[in-house]
Order: sequence, then C-alpha cells, then structure tokens
Amino acid sequence: MKFAFADPPYLGRAEYYRAHHADAMIWDDPETHRSLIARLQAEYPDGWVLCLQERSLRTILPMCPTDARTAAWITDRARYAGRAVAVRRHFEPVIFWRGRGGPNRAADFVFTGQEPMPAGTQRYAMNKSAIRAGEAFLGRKPAAFCRWVLDLLGYERGDQVDDLFPGTGAMGRVIDGLNSTGHQTLPMFAEKVS
Ligand SMILES: C[S@@+](CC[C@H](N)C(=O)[O-])C[C@H]1O[C@@H](n2cnc3c(N)ncnc32)[C@H](O)[C@@H]1O
Repeated sequence: MKFAFADPPYLGRAEYYRAHHADAMIWDDPETHRSLIARLQAEYPDGWVLCLQERSLRTILPMCPTDARTAAWITDRARYAGRAVAVRRHFEPVIFWRGRGGPNRAADFVFTGQEPMPAGTQRYAMNKSAIRAGEAFLGRKPAAFCRWVLDLLGYERGDQVDDLFPGTGAMGRVIDGLNSTGHQTLPMFAEKVS
C-alpha cells in the first residue's frame, strides 16, 4: 500500500519556516491546505495522515472527506500559546483517512513525553526571533508519535510512506528502524486493544 504523511507548516505558523523557504507564507492561506488535501485524496487512495494545530481544526476539517477521522496527540509539555492561557494546550488534532483495514490495531490517541534532543542541538527556548531567523526549528515530531501515525495507517513492511514535509527526518528514521528490526506490524497498541 502507499500512504502519505503530511506535516506541513501549520496554518497561522508559516513564519516559522520563512528563513528556509521563500514561499513559506503560502501556508498561512487556507487554500494552500485545501490544495494539499486535494493532492492527498488524488494521489493516496490507500490513506493519509495530516497534522495541524487545534486552532485551525474548524477551517481544515471541513476540507477533508466526511469519513476522515480526527485523532489526538497529547504531550506532557504544553504547547506555547504566545501568552499565558487559562487552559494550557497539550493536545493537537491529527486527521487521518483510510489506512489498512482489519481488526483493532491502534487507538485514536497517543501520549508522548519529551524525548532527548538530537546530538549537538539544544531544546529551543520559545524565542520567536531565533525561529524566524532559522536558528531554531519548530515542529519536530517524536519517534513515538511517528510510530503511532504508522499504526493509524496500518503500515506493514514493504508499504510506501511518502513523508511530504520531512523536516528533521523523524518519520524516515522510525520507518528505517522498524524495517531493520524486522517488525512486520507495529506492536505498540496491539495488546491493549485486542
Ligand atoms: C511541521 S514541519 C515538519 C516537521 C517534521 N515532521 C519533523 O518531524 O521534523 C513543516 C516542514 O515543512 C517544510 N516545508 C517544505 N516546503 C515548505 C514551504 N514551501 N514552505 C514552508 N515550509 C516548507 C519545512 O521545512 C518544515 O520542515
């Protein structure tokens, strides 16, 4: 099967990627996200996963097919909201569509803790000028999140997963790791939901 993992610049957060992409600000236009979803539908009939932030759910979900589902990524570290908010944001929606059929294999949520930063890099302080200057990268997904995304899709060895916005390459490393350890299917939630 052939799947897509789409983790684009979030609607409203395009400025974070401006230092690296001259056209980054197109991602603050909802129509760019509509085009991405149209591409996912046209090129990935086996299934896809799309990341977004909670604030854009009301804009982006209506662009998706009616049988798309919304899953939850919950982190132990609250997301920065730009200012103090009464209810901190620990949740991000993840929209998914289709995937391999079959019996229970996954849950529609995942909880991840902070993982160590790659060697030689520091955890960012939320310093918008450093991010805008391209000195800090926002949006890296933890390995446990990537494994869960594969679980949502029902990934099996031999499937193709196109990571359309690879960034730090987190998804590619997880897939390489799964393939080299010889897991045919993902064990993450199998025991809990069977
Ligand atoms: C949310 S991040 C993806 C993070 C990635 N999943 C990871 O774990 O590292 C969005 C990515 O889209 C990439 N990108 C590709 N084309 C872009 C464009 N035209 N404008 C802005 N960002 C773009 C950025 O470089 C950035 O790595």
